[in-house]
Amino acid sequence: MKRKSFLTLGTGLFAAANLKAANSQIIEAQLNDMGTLAQENQSDNFDWAAIRSMFPLGNDRIFLNNGTMGITPYPVLNAVQNSFETIAEKAEYPHHSDDLEKMLASIIGADPKEIGITKNVSEGINHICWGLDLKRGDEVILTEHEHVGGCLAWLYRAKVDGIVIKTFVLGKTAEETLNNLNATITKKTKAIAVPHIPCTIGQILPVKEICDLARSKNIISCIDGAHPLGMIQFNVKDIGCDYYAGCFHKWVLGPIGSGWLYIAQQKIQQTKIYHVAAYSAGEFNMRATPPSMGPLVDSVGRYSYGTFCGPLHVGALKSLEFYTKIGPSRIENRVKYLAEKLQNSLLEIGDGIEMLTPTEDRSRGAQIGFRIKKSKKDNPNIGFVNYARSKQMILRHVAENGLDNIRISTHYYNTEQEIEQCVSLLKEYAFG
Ligand SMILES: Cc1ncc(COP(=O)(O)O)c(C=O)c1O
Repeated sequence: MKRKSFLTLGTGLFAAANLKAANSQIIEAQLNDMGTLAQENQSDNFDWAAIRSMFPLGNDRIFLNNGTMGITPYPVLNAVQNSFETIAEKAEYPHHSDDLEKMLASIIGADPKEIGITKNVSEGINHICWGLDLKRGDEVILTEHEHVGGCLAWLYRAKVDGIVIKTFVLGKTAEETLNNLNATITKKTKAIAVPHIPCTIGQILPVKEICDLARSKNIISCIDGAHPLGMIQFNVKDIGCDYYAGCFHKWVLGPIGSGWLYIAQQKIQQTKIYHVAAYSAGEFNMRATPPSMGPLVDSVGRYSYGTFCGPLHVGALKSLEFYTKIGPSRIENRVKYLAEKLQNSLLEIGDGIEMLTPTEDRSRGAQIGFRIKKSKKDNPNIGFVNYARSKQMILRHVAENGLDNIRISTHYYNTEQEIEQCVSLLKEYAFG
């Protein structure tokens, strides 16, 4: 389990290469053992500490900001590293296989042809936004809680093409959110583009009901899915969305800079695509008169064109394997349990805290957003995030859209003790 002890053993290139191989074998053996680990610990007494030891993250820090970036576990890190080395040592050009699309498709209930690999969520959202047939005056509805990656493409398209962006307020319950959205729809609404889980306060939006509503009014549904994969289980067919942009580099703990895009089969041909190259079409001929190309491939793979970072694909696949080995429902229960524990501890502070994340069970995921009130400190929200950082505890201050709140993410590698430490530090800072 202890990779670091191996790293301290040798010096020199030869030793390092041997150590790397030994370390990779140990990690692989751990991964294989995980099948047994998972079965033996059916419920609460699962050995999360053993899983935590498979992360290089130093024990000197508490990372409660997975919402910004997932930290990489050794299996993923090793897979990426080994893949880069194979390319360098054997001069092997990374050829596209659809293993990643197939595995992701099986997890989110899609057909592999409905999935393309991107570099991040923002890229997927741009493909969606610019691919829709919208004209001046057409309305698109977003929330007031967008990440820059979730809204900038739409705002820019408003500038360039004159589409109109409307927003609605998130409710304290799924029903309230749905009602607020419904009240924003007009005859001119052509698309609803909302996050499944906003980055600001982490509530889970009722996306299935939102997409049902959209479909009933002939409105296109586009979901910004930066957070759900690896946190909560979901099925794109059950949600019924037309488009869903996600990533591997947050909750499923894949390599940084790896994303994916889902487009429902019936929308692939209708969606405009402006950038194409290798893998987008089967054939082309520059010596024909006139020069010609064959049809675009009938899959979202048309967006994953040109030379790509093969090691990131390998790492992303490994992250899905790691995720399924631990167990999606076990992970969901764990991350939600930690978030609920955190939320309850914060609520116990009473008047000193303004809780922003809903307490409704179906609306709460693994991120809690709140503000400090009644503290003698100036700017206590950013102040606390900075103070925590000085103590090696990493949180997120949400400055966007003037929200000025603290966001704490709880992943399965976090512990109950870390949550308690965080709340104690907050009390000491804000009210001590
Ligand atoms: C809700 C949401 N949407 C979009 C993005 C942008 O994601 P990416 O950095 O993968 O483009 C983020 C990133 O944090 C996010 O939280």
